[in-house]
Amino acid sequence: MTDTMALRVGLIGVGGVCRAVHYPGFSRIPGVDIAALCDPDAALLAQRREEWGVAATASDVDEFLRHDLDAVVIATPNHLHRRLIEKVLAAGCHVLCEKPLGMDLAETIAIYRLASASGRRHMTAFTYRFVPGMTYLKHLVDSGALGVVRHARVQRLQDWGEKAIGWRQYRAQAGLGELGDMGIHRIDYAEDLLGPIGSVCASMKQLLPRDQTKEGVACPPQDVEDWVAWIAEFDSGATCVFEMGKLSKGRGPGGDHDLAELNGTEASAVYHLHTPHEVLFARRGEPYQPLPVPPEFLARPGSPRDPAVGDPVVTFRYDQAWEFVSAIREGRDCVPSFYHGMRAQAVAEAVVTADRQRRWVDVPRVP
Ligand SMILES: NC(=O)c1ccc[n+]([C@@H]2O[C@H](COP(=O)([O-])OP(=O)(O)OC[C@H]3O[C@@H](n4cnc5c(N)ncnc54)[C@H](O)[C@@H]3O)[C@@H](O)[C@H]2O)c1
Repeated sequence: MTDTMALRVGLIGVGGVCRAVHYPGFSRIPGVDIAALCDPDAALLAQRREEWGVAATASDVDEFLRHDLDAVVIATPNHLHRRLIEKVLAAGCHVLCEKPLGMDLAETIAIYRLASASGRRHMTAFTYRFVPGMTYLKHLVDSGALGVVRHARVQRLQDWGEKAIGWRQYRAQAGLGELGDMGIHRIDYAEDLLGPIGSVCASMKQLLPRDQTKEGVACPPQDVEDWVAWIAEFDSGATCVFEMGKLSKGRGPGGDHDLAELNGTEASAVYHLHTPHEVLFARRGEPYQPLPVPPEFLARPGSPRDPAVGDPVVTFRYDQAWEFVSAIREGRDCVPSFYHGMRAQAVAEAVVTADRQRRWVDVPRVP
């Protein structure tokens, strides 16, 4: 395998996240050819073909997979992930799939086992691992700068408005609401920082019907949660309080809030998505001070992305494609892989059970 091994990459589902993250990520990597697109929305597919200059397009996945691809990105609504992963792996391709990987834990375990047995590279799109401030926070934890982390808090608060939000509000297509949309990323990075979560207690609320589209047309009401909170106990002994909500007034565009704060025996540190090139840091007895992220953490090693170019709240996301391509070229596992997608789903399932049964629940261990 060489550093610039040529790769033909196909994109399935060319909607929001594909436009914002996957296309710009893959299109800047030398040696990568975005060779084919797949989406059943004919108008959108024609638009992307024009915008991105990709001639090979298909509404049907079997036709798409005939384009001799090395690797495929799956960025469709969640209920389609499993079927598409099965087809992509059967065609012999490496696969990067959006989160949540599956609709529930049983499905996610099946996906993970299939991918592990395939010999192909597999990656879950846990994009927030690639925020420079998050990469640096992990370095601070791993290097012992915080001492032993005793407790932590993770918050994702946004205002998506009160109208319908498409497939995301239906259990049959999304599996989970806010927990699967925003929570699953935070489960992943919390386990990356602090190790496995052993048990949780939780509360989930559906606050609205969302039975009108943004255009004011009646639509079926939602059947998933808008808000979720849980306390997690880690195997390390640390605890973390999580809260996520899509109806947090004041946290709308521009006020969108994403925070992780760790309190250790020697020091505390805070990651905030919206200041991705610094963290807050304080040793015992000191107030927080901004700490610039050192240059070696501003982009992944070898990434073609210049962290000084573009909006850093957006552009870090392109390093996800670089990790996938690098793992294929280097013949190593992707980080995060489908294993991490399955782990996050196990914790999410425990959160759901804890809310329903109103008690502490152990996270199922999957060998
Ligand atoms: N990692 C992240 O930060 C992040 C951000 C946003 C969304 N997501 C995830 O990405 C996925 C897509 O979300 P989105 O916001 O882009 O949704 P979207 O609705 O904007 O786009 C989904 C696209 O999939 C297409 N599609 C539907 N059925 C298909 C099929 N059978 N074959 C191929 N394409 C099909 C739709 O036509 C649409 O263009 C979801 O799993 C979501 O959870 C992840």
